[in-house]
Amino acid sequence: MPGESFYLTTPIFYVNDVPHIGHAYTEVAADILTRWHRQSGDDTWLLTGTDEHGQKILRTAVANDTTPKEWADKLVRDAWLPLLETLNVANDDFIRTTDERHETAVLIFLQKLYDDGFIYKGEYEGYYCVGCEEYKQLDDLMETADGDYAGQLVCKIHGRPVEVLQETNYFFKMSQFQQPLLDLYESQPEFVQPASVRNEIISFVRSGLNDLSISRSSFDWGIQIPWDTSHVLYVWFDALLNYITAIGYGTDDEQFARRWPGTHLVGKDIARFHAVIWPAMLMAAGIQVPTQVFGHGWLLVGGEKMSKSKLTGIAPNEITDTFGSDAFRYYFMRAISFGQDGSFSWEDLSARYQSELANGFGNLASRVIAMVSRYYDGVVPSPGPYGEADLGIQKTVRDAASAANTAIARLAIHEALAAVWTIVEELNGYITIQEPWVLAKDEAPRERLGTVLYTATEGLRALAVLLSPIIPESTEVLWSALGADSLGADSDGADSLGTVWEQLLPDAGRWGQLPAGSRVTPIEPLFPRIEPAVV
Ligand code: MSP
Repeated sequence: MPGESFYLTTPIFYVNDVPHIGHAYTEVAADILTRWHRQSGDDTWLLTGTDEHGQKILRTAVANDTTPKEWADKLVRDAWLPLLETLNVANDDFIRTTDERHETAVLIFLQKLYDDGFIYKGEYEGYYCVGCEEYKQLDDLMETADGDYAGQLVCKIHGRPVEVLQETNYFFKMSQFQQPLLDLYESQPEFVQPASVRNEIISFVRSGLNDLSISRSSFDWGIQIPWDTSHVLYVWFDALLNYITAIGYGTDDEQFARRWPGTHLVGKDIARFHAVIWPAMLMAAGIQVPTQVFGHGWLLVGGEKMSKSKLTGIAPNEITDTFGSDAFRYYFMRAISFGQDGSFSWEDLSARYQSELANGFGNLASRVIAMVSRYYDGVVPSPGPYGEADLGIQKTVRDAASAANTAIARLAIHEALAAVWTIVEELNGYITIQEPWVLAKDEAPRERLGTVLYTATEGLRALAVLLSPIIPESTEVLWSALGADSLGADSDGADSLGTVWEQLLPDAGRWGQLPAGSRVTPIEPLFPRIEPAVV
C-alpha cells in the first residue's frame, strides 16, 4: 500500500542558457526533500523539466543560427539532463513543454477555460520584459540615468529596456479571482511560504489584480490557441501547466488523482506566478489549488543575485569536479537557511568541506571502523551495560532524528541538517572522552570497550540513514562498510538490514538496529583532503 502522496516540483528551467549553481540549488533541495519523503514511506514523485517556448528562447535560437526546437534539444541533451547526473538527483520524471503529452493537455485546459467564459479577446498596451517573460507595471521599472540605456525605462531585475507592446490578445479573467485568492491565503496560511514571500504576495493581490494577456500574435514559437491559430499561448500560462500535464491531467485521471495536489519549490522571484496566476488558473478550471508554494531565497555573489546575464554565474561542475556532488549538496543546504538569501564563497565552501565533512564526519567514520577492525577483527561487538555517557549518545540520536523529521515537514532543510550534525559532534566528543585506544590496552575493561565501540558504530548507522537523502554517495559507502547490507554468519542469524535506501527515516532514531556481529570493512576517507592548490 503506498503511503501518503508527496508530489514535489521544481520550476522548469529556461533553455536559453546552461545551468548555474542557482538552478542547481533548487534541484538539490527538491531532491533532498523527495528522497526524505520516499524514505519515510510516502508515495513520492519528483518532477523537473524545461521551459522551451516564448520569445527569449526564440531570440537565443535565432542568434545562434538555429531553430528553437533544435536549440532546446541541444541544451536539454548537453546541459540540463547532465546537470541532474552531476548533482545526483533522483527525479521521477522530466517534462519538456515541447513534449506532445504536455501540448495535448494544455489544449484541453485552454479550451475548457474558453468554453466556460474565462477567456475573452481584448486590446493590450503595455511594457514587456523578455528576460522575465512578463508584462510589467511602472512600479517594476526604473529610468536609468547613465550607461547604455540612459533615459530608457529598464526592468529592475534585468536592467535591460522593456518593450512596448500594443496587440489584440486573448485575456484570462484573472481580476475576478482577487477575493478568492485573498480568501485562500487567509484560510490556508501554509499555502505560500515562507512568511516574507507570503506577505509580499498578499499585499500585491490586495492592491488589485488585472486580467492577464495570455496570447501573442507577433511571433509563433509557442502552443497555438486552439480556436485562433494566429495566436500562441503566453509562455508562463503554458509553463505553469506542466505541473499537471506531467501527471496526467486530461489524459490519465487515475495518475492525476493519485498525485495532485502537489508542492511547488520555486525561487522567490517567481513566487507571484505560482501563488497568484497559477491558483487563479486552477480555480477557473475547477481544479484543486497546490498544497504549497515555497519561495526559496537567492544565491548571491558579491551581494547580488547570481545570474548568467550579469556574468556572475558559476557552473555546478566547477564545484563538483573538485569537491564531489555530496559536498555540493551538503554545503548549500548547510550554509544557507532554506527560504533566505545566502552568499556563496569558495573560502566558505573549502572551510566547511575540511572541518565538517572531512574532519568531522569522514574522520569519525574512518576512526570507528578502523578501531572495530583492529580490536575486534572487524566484527561489531555486543554492548555491555550502558552507562550515562552511552545513554547520552542514544538520546542525542533519538532527539536528532525526531527534530530532523519535524524540520523536513516544514521544508527547513538546514535545520534538519543541523540537528543530524549534533550526532557527529557528540560522537566525536564521546570517543575523545571514552578513549577506546586506552581501554584496548587492558583485558579487564574489555566489556566496556565493546559498549563504547558498539555505541559508536550504531551511531554511525543512524548517521548513514539520516544523511542518506543529503549525501547519498558517501552514506552508501558507509552503509556497506558497516556491513549492514550483508550480515553473515557472525551476526547471530540476524537478517541483513537491506540497502540504506530501504531504511525508514521516521524510525532512524530507534537505538540498537545494527546487530552485533556485523562485519565492517575499512574504507578510504569519505571526504579526502583537497590540496589547496586545486581550490
Ligand atoms: N522558466 C521559468 C520557470 C517556469 S516554472 C513554471 C524560470 N526559469 S529560470 O531558468 O529562469 O529560473 C528557474 C529557477 O532558478 C527560478 O526559481 C529562479 O529563482 C532560480 N534561480 C535563478 N537564479 C538563482 C539564484 N541566483 N539563486 C537561487 N535561485 C535562482 O524562471
